[in-house]
Amino acid sequence: MTKKHAAPTAKPEFIHVNPLVARPGEDALAPRYRLAQGQMLPETAYQVIHDETMLDGNARLNLATFVGTWMDDNARRLYSESYDKNMIDKDEYPQTAAIEEYCLRIIADLWHAPDPMTTMGTSTIGSSEACMLGGLAFKRRWQHARRAAGRSTEKPNLVMSSAVQVCWEKFCNYWDVEARYVPITAEHPFLDGYELERYVDENTIGVVAIMGVTYTGAYEAVADIAAALDSIQAATGLDVPIHVDGASGAMVAPFLQPDLLWDFRLERVHSISTSAHKYGLVYPGLGWVIWRTPDLLPADLVFTVSYLGGSMPTLALNFSRPGAQVLLQYYLFLRLGHDGYRAVQQASQDVAHYLAHGIEKLGIFTLLSDGSDIPVFAWRLVDGPIRNWSLYDLSDRLRMRGWLVPAYPMPDDLAQITVQRIVVRNGLSMDLAVSLLATIVEEVDYLERLESPMPDEGPRPVFAH
Ligand SMILES: Cc1ncc(COP(=O)(O)O)c(C=O)c1O
Repeated sequence: MTKKHAAPTAKPEFIHVNPLVARPGEDALAPRYRLAQGQMLPETAYQVIHDETMLDGNARLNLATFVGTWMDDNARRLYSESYDKNMIDKDEYPQTAAIEEYCLRIIADLWHAPDPMTTMGTSTIGSSEACMLGGLAFKRRWQHARRAAGRSTEKPNLVMSSAVQVCWEKFCNYWDVEARYVPITAEHPFLDGYELERYVDENTIGVVAIMGVTYTGAYEAVADIAAALDSIQAATGLDVPIHVDGASGAMVAPFLQPDLLWDFRLERVHSISTSAHKYGLVYPGLGWVIWRTPDLLPADLVFTVSYLGGSMPTLALNFSRPGAQVLLQYYLFLRLGHDGYRAVQQASQDVAHYLAHGIEKLGIFTLLSDGSDIPVFAWRLVDGPIRNWSLYDLSDRLRMRGWLVPAYPMPDDLAQITVQRIVVRNGLSMDLAVSLLATIVEEVDYLERLESPMPDEGPRPVFAH
């Protein structure tokens, strides 16, 4: 899709090339929005792009994103040796295909699939694609069952909390499924099965449970949701499955909360997805989706590609996709093992606790979460005196100091509450956290000393989750 450039932000039609990097005689102006007729020196092209992206934020100081921003030198070496491999070319790169398979079995085992060696799953470009595939399997199974029973397949719906990530909205929009949102409230800040019977009916293809709600980092109560669905089945006969969107939490809970019941140990959990590029610790973009048993993935969603003279089942929205990230995932599995992953996630959680409680101690904030689920926490201003500033102003002040810490409204029914969130990832060391907390203290002090309100420019663009 072409992006329309609004006049005030549109850049000039030509890029001014610095004579220092241009070849003698090379044009000093290069068209920005159309292809030039002639060539540009590679060094010049590099410099132009390098200079333009200097204005991007520093990825390591980006505490808004869940996505990995740091890997070690061995991973980078492996990456640079394999970024030319296409994951779909299974026949040409059989070892990369085999390594994808090893990763799937490792993850299926981590999530307690009844038989990790036979279950179905795939790598994806990220959680969004993985969630779409989970949703599609739900829809297709429901359609098959309804058709077999001679019932209508006109009006499928999917039940989820109002705090779902936008990928679920997309799924419902793209595949004509009604999105049924259970609003979050102060008493039920995440999906926990409460009043689920009001939302589930014969057209419900499934329920989404999130391990690591994007807004706060809290785990939804998967076991309670499963129990509520058991009661619904006992009362109505409806057998509604769960997809766990474990974009972040599915790579945290196995290490930090091993006794928590959220995965395939719960029979109602048919499928689980995760972003390897979040707490799987791999560079973007890689995700995984796995089904509890092969029968839960309708066979008519699976295609085949050639592989070692035979064929191999594949399941994906895209065809071509980078293979390098899969190798990076396996590198980390080999390198870290269970203990290593636990240590890395624990270090992030320690930093999250340090920051969350440091912020709480300032006395003017209330924590909505403290990083005890995934190492992500959110806070709001305490109720009380009207202040001359808001969390949006604090976000702006921190941005001036290089830190990206978003503020945003909560979803329905808590949309009147503004919160601010920090995602602690591998790479935000305790040392950096100490500096960040000191910066927050200084900026809060500045804002608290204001003698008149900060100017308010009206509604802001909403931070996208
Ligand atoms: C709960 C949840 N689901 C899905 C996604 C989408 O993940 P991806 O960016 O890997 O497509 C996110 C991203 O933050 C998320 O937090």
